[in-house]
Amino acid sequence: MNSFEPKIVAFLCNWCSYAGADLAGTSRLKYAPNIRIIKVPCTGRLDPVMLVKAFEVGADGVLVSGCHPNDCHYRTGNFLARRRWMIFKDMLEFVGIEPGRVHFSWVSAAEGGKFVEVVNKVTTEVKTLGPFKGLTS
Ligand code: FES
Repeated sequence: MNSFEPKIVAFLCNWCSYAGADLAGTSRLKYAPNIRIIKVPCTGRLDPVMLVKAFEVGADGVLVSGCHPNDCHYRTGNFLARRRWMIFKDMLEFVGIEPGRVHFSWVSAAEGGKFVEVVNKVTTEVKTLGPFKGLTS
């Protein structure tokens, strides 16, 4: 049996995914207790360095979740985040982070159930990878 419980930092946009997490909570939906939520104004605000920093300070996985395409409250922030991610994901392995440790998703304020599914899926995947062994220098 795998008793490893990963620490997963979840950067959630204030307007959609954070509200989706709140809905999951107020609906008393149960999900893996492995995430540590950091509320951000918009996923477009995230610098990839912040994701790497999360690993540096002990995370085993990272989840970034924001508004669905065309629903971003700052119009194009989530498109900017997606573009950054497309470039950044190719660099993950270079710094020693397996791609399966970083996940992106769109979760709206009305999708408490989807938030639960995403968290459980990410937790299962990171659990399979085992503890993060550190950045390659
Ligand atoms: S405000 Fe939610 S991703 Fe931009």
